[in-house]
Amino acid sequence: MCGIFVYLNYLVPATRQEILEILLNGLKRLEYRGYDSAGIAIDDCGDIGDGPRPMKLIKKKGKVQALREEIEAQKEMKLDQQFHFHVGIAHTRWATHGEPSPRNSHPQRSDPLSEFVVIHNGIITNYKDIKSFLMNKGMEFESETDTEVIAKLVKHLYDTHKEQGISFRETVEMTVQQLEGAFALAFKSVHFPGECVVARRGSPLLIGVKSNSKLSTDHIPVLYSKDTKEFTTEEHRGYMGAQQRLDSTAEFHPVGTDKKVEYFFASDASAIIEHTNQVIFLEDDDIACVKDGCLNITRVKRSLDDSTVREVITLKMEIQQIMKGNFKSFMQKEIFEQPESVVNTMRGRVNFETNQVILGGIKDYMTEIRRCRRLLFIACGTSYHSAIATRQLLEELTELPVMVELASDFLDRSTPVFRDDVCFFISQSGETADTLLALRYCKQRGALIVGITNTVGSSICRESHCGVHINAGPEIGVASTKAYTSQFISLVMFGLMMCEDRLSMQDRKNEIIQGLKKLPEEIKEVLKMDDQIKSLAQELYQQKSLLVMGRGFNFATCLEGALKIKELTYMHSEGIMAGELKHGPLALVDKAMPVMMIVTRDHVHSKCMNALQQVKARHGDPILICNHGDAETLAQGSKCIEVPHTIDCLQGVLTIIPMQLLSLHIAELRNCDVDQPRHLLKTYTLMHMDS
Ligand code: UD1
Ligand code: GLU
Ligand code: MG
Repeated sequence: MCGIFVYLNYLVPATRQEILEILLNGLKRLEYRGYDSAGIAIDDCGDIGDGPRPMKLIKKKGKVQALREEIEAQKEMKLDQQFHFHVGIAHTRWATHGEPSPRNSHPQRSDPLSEFVVIHNGIITNYKDIKSFLMNKGMEFESETDTEVIAKLVKHLYDTHKEQGISFRETVEMTVQQLEGAFALAFKSVHFPGECVVARRGSPLLIGVKSNSKLSTDHIPVLYSKDTKEFTTEEHRGYMGAQQRLDSTAEFHPVGTDKKVEYFFASDASAIIEHTNQVIFLEDDDIACVKDGCLNITRVKRSLDDSTVREVITLKMEIQQIMKGNFKSFMQKEIFEQPESVVNTMRGRVNFETNQVILGGIKDYMTEIRRCRRLLFIACGTSYHSAIATRQLLEELTELPVMVELASDFLDRSTPVFRDDVCFFISQSGETADTLLALRYCKQRGALIVGITNTVGSSICRESHCGVHINAGPEIGVASTKAYTSQFISLVMFGLMMCEDRLSMQDRKNEIIQGLKKLPEEIKEVLKMDDQIKSLAQELYQQKSLLVMGRGFNFATCLEGALKIKELTYMHSEGIMAGELKHGPLALVDKAMPVMMIVTRDHVHSKCMNALQQVKARHGDPILICNHGDAETLAQGSKCIEVPHTIDCLQGVLTIIPMQLLSLHIAELRNCDVDQPRHLLKTYTLMHMDS
């Protein structure tokens, strides 16, 4: 989820100092993505002949600057030692497994001698199986990360097969075949000086090539290992123990030069662009290896429709432009990341085959939670809306009283809290001051404290008894988008866990789990309407106000949508419960008042249609967010945004996305700073703020 940067020089002499500069600078370029710690691995002082080269790892919690200071404080670094070839790897980490600390930072090593080290972006979901396999082999683990199993596994496979002269690439190939989950990986080994192997599945990775001679080909041929095949987990153990190895076509294809060359591997083009504009984007299941200055790319699995060449693409983008990928703002990037981030939230937790949900962070507390008097959800802003969005489902699945509270108001009221209450605190950063104060208030009164946070090691995470990390990845834009959908899904998963042994709810549970499975694809469908939403923004951006109406499962979308509009565009906007129209808000409606209405196919559909008629009777002409192909509803609106139909309780994940996009486009048209709206901070950590 965070940053990978590798620098490999071959016959281009560089001093240790120069190498360190390039690595630290690469990490700097990745800083904008957000991270909690950083680390590097380079060759240590000592013999730099052809034999094994000892390695040096330097890791630090906090900023790249802190890592730099740590490096500068090292003694006996021999900064002017020169290398004719060298591999340096560097990483910024956004913790998902294990708190931010030097020990959990990457590179992770195979053993105290660092025979193999690896840096990783993503999550390995089967790391526990691999870990127990390796522990049975006598390996000792030192971190809490999922990543460490990769470093240990690669050494185990190397040790088992080195007699047969297994190559670095083959060892990595065998390793990644055992991994489940998402990853971009870069490996370095004392046994293979000057060689680097990288692999990806689900997380981005690209290669920059810098060489004096022009590349003789625009295409790097992709080789297939002859008999690679997929191994199931059953075969897995036997396979790892067995004395077999892959017989592969390990030829090397020079990329047009057999002499001087430099390679840069990174998770993001922003770290490469200043060195070269010749880049190759790797695809899932590609393994790229550089040996003796030659790059070759192989496939882990063979499938017929695989394309067999990777194009060298010449990047023309400017650094500024590329910092956010192809996006204009972090907010836009984060909105478009949602098909991916919701998968990460569910990764390793929802089993779509067996219809089971396990939240590792709260499973040991489930008995206590099931026995509670009531559930309280306490939060601010967008996080509060995620609880509103799931309240009805939680009531349905738990059959418990559910209270949803704004942290500041909850404290103002000195709300009674009891020992048998379970209190949830939801916060993206895990540092929101009001939420944290409310947490302490409830903890003092003996309630069970559950955190729902995106930030491992945050205050809420530390001070809660248990909780769930939403694993949405870093969120930089001040206006929360992907954290909202991930909080939403985390709360749904909690509800599903609560009803797992209720026979009468199995059908409902299974239906929701199958709905979750389809969500990422459906989010992609909604994102495709970006252009249509942009033209709606054109019509709306000069207005003074926008009312957003809905009810039932979509009421939270009204509140959250209106909040997005307010904070980003500085326009007045209000989320209105459609059931309340006749008690006041209807007075606002006339021909000139812009209105949006969310009318999806669920048990309140006919009530929403009534509300729609009331608005139309006052000459309002609402823009509708409705289900794709719902002719009856479509006939009622002159402008409609059609989102896929999903299970009622998940519909809010799909209806919020048009609102996120709409507020983004209106803000752009009004020349507002999307990533940093006026008067707002990403996280309010000040205690006793009069908010
Ligand atoms: C945890 C590990 C993850 C591992 C998985 C395997 C961490 C951060 N997560 O993920 O590396 O893959 O087990 O089962 O190490 N917690 C709080 N308050 C919060 C959020 C979380 O106390 O606000 C606690 C949880 O109770 C748990 C720990 O932090 O003890 C990790 O939570 P989470 O990452 O959600 O748990 P898993 O998904 O099981
Ligand atoms: N899951 C890994 C860890 O927690 C990698 C996190 C990242 O992508 O930065 O260490
Ligand atoms: Mg805790």
